[in-house]
Amino acid sequence: TVVRISDDALALACGAGAVAHAFAEAGSEIERVSSWGMHWLEPLVEIDGQGFGPVSPADVQAILAGHSDKAIGPIVQHPFIAGQQRLTFARAGRTRPLSLEDYAATGGWTALARARAMAPADVIAEVTGSGLRGRGGAGFPAGVKWQTVLAAAAPRKFVVCNADEGDSGTFADRMLMEGDPFQLIEGMAIAGHAVGAWQGFIYIRSEYPHAIAKLRAAISLAASQIAPFQIEVRVGAGAYVCGEETSLLNSIEGKRGEVRAKPPLPAIEGLFGCPTVVNNVLTLAAIPHILTDCGSSLYDSLGIDRSKGTMPIQLAGNIKHGGLFETAFGITLNDLIHGIGGGTASGRPVKAVQVGGPLGAYLHPSQFDLPFDYEAYSRANALIGHGGVVVFDDTANMGALARFAFQFCAAESCGKCTPCRIGSTRGVELIDRIRSGQHVPDLVAALPQMHNARNHARSREEELALLEDLCETMQYGSLCALGGFTPYPVRSALKHWPEDFA
Ligand code: NAI
Ligand code: SF4
Repeated sequence: TVVRISDDALALACGAGAVAHAFAEAGSEIERVSSWGMHWLEPLVEIDGQGFGPVSPADVQAILAGHSDKAIGPIVQHPFIAGQQRLTFARAGRTRPLSLEDYAATGGWTALARARAMAPADVIAEVTGSGLRGRGGAGFPAGVKWQTVLAAAAPRKFVVCNADEGDSGTFADRMLMEGDPFQLIEGMAIAGHAVGAWQGFIYIRSEYPHAIAKLRAAISLAASQIAPFQIEVRVGAGAYVCGEETSLLNSIEGKRGEVRAKPPLPAIEGLFGCPTVVNNVLTLAAIPHILTDCGSSLYDSLGIDRSKGTMPIQLAGNIKHGGLFETAFGITLNDLIHGIGGGTASGRPVKAVQVGGPLGAYLHPSQFDLPFDYEAYSRANALIGHGGVVVFDDTANMGALARFAFQFCAAESCGKCTPCRIGSTRGVELIDRIRSGQHVPDLVAALPQMHNARNHARSREEELALLEDLCETMQYGSLCALGGFTPYPVRSALKHWPEDFA
């Protein structure tokens, strides 16, 4: 019997190693594959297409004897899998991550061969035609970025993959790098051909040791396939802000991870001053599919309005069925959380959902019919970001979460600009005062009568007005999204749950 068990970090954290060991002891042949992304069922075991999960070593005998109560039926027919439209994650659960044989047998390298037979401008035209937008969060059209790099005259150019997946509740980059690393490598090699770059870097967070090891092994296995294009892995050192593209470039160059002013755009003056494509893992991993025959038009036919193709959505936090759900844009939070996700893991009512990482807005249940679409979210003062969806039940205190947004910004600020560096700390103090009801004397207003300052303590309304003022200053005055987006979670929490600030 061949027993298929994932060696993805999440599966390992849930005990997949011990389960694999127990099956091996029982005489089974083990195949370590990528994860299907049904996290609540890990360690998930697959035998002849039938799934079992979550499995512990104690379940092994019953599974092999054919009477396990952990059976979930055929995995591909499980509603969580059958309901998806997997393009970027088409191989998830199905292939061995470091098997060149599996990769080639599932269409690997055909897009690179096709792209290399085309003129760079034609490759870019297909990427533009697909409607692919940057999956890191900002949603900038990938083809336009590539065109800017192609048009920039320079002796050296680079392709940099942003794998510094720092958003709370996100794991799609990690799963892709651990489960299908050749796809990312192929996407980077295609990008290199399209813009005229011969060297690529993958900047990955140090918190992903399994992904780092997989990528290094995969790059060495695929070296001859992608030659003369070359890829190096660079490991970060734990700063959230190094996910911002210019501080990421500084970090690769060995400098302090501090944000650079834009312009110049990295597409014109990026790594070591050369024109550079900086794309997220998911953007580059979508490329091989798009560059296959008709891939571009198929991609363009999916989604809604200007949000084309599929998005690997990550369901996390207090949710019963968390995991990776790739689907065309347009799905609602109601469908994602109550339908697919099965509601909260705690069984309590959903209070709020944060979409787009720690700087994303908290969405209220009254907004759960919003379609997953960059522009629709933007109109609702929210972000899709990297597609992380974090669910909170009614025990969450939104005042405390708003405070956390400022605290997070203060901890992660690179310190380059004043609104973020100082504003974040003032924000923590302000929220503390508003929540505790202990308002400090307003020294500025009280200046002429310093001796009488106590009589000029700010009212709650004045503190709230100051908070709004601070949010506006941070939103419009910060140099990058870290300071600029911190007001999203704060304002949304205050708007929908004012009682939590009492
Ligand atoms: P941005 O809007 O400044 O730029 C988006 C991208 O388009 C950049 O690569 C920029 O260089 C490029 N670009 C803009 N105009 C261009 C032009 N005319 N030609 C060529 N390229 C051009 O956004 P930014 O600051 O890069 O990213 C902010 C986003 O990052 C947020 O939306 C947030 O959701 C996301 N984010 C993601 C995280 C993650 O873990 N994936 C963590 C933190 C934030
Ligand atoms: Fe640095 Fe914050 Fe300013 Fe961004 S907003 S440049 S992280 S200080």
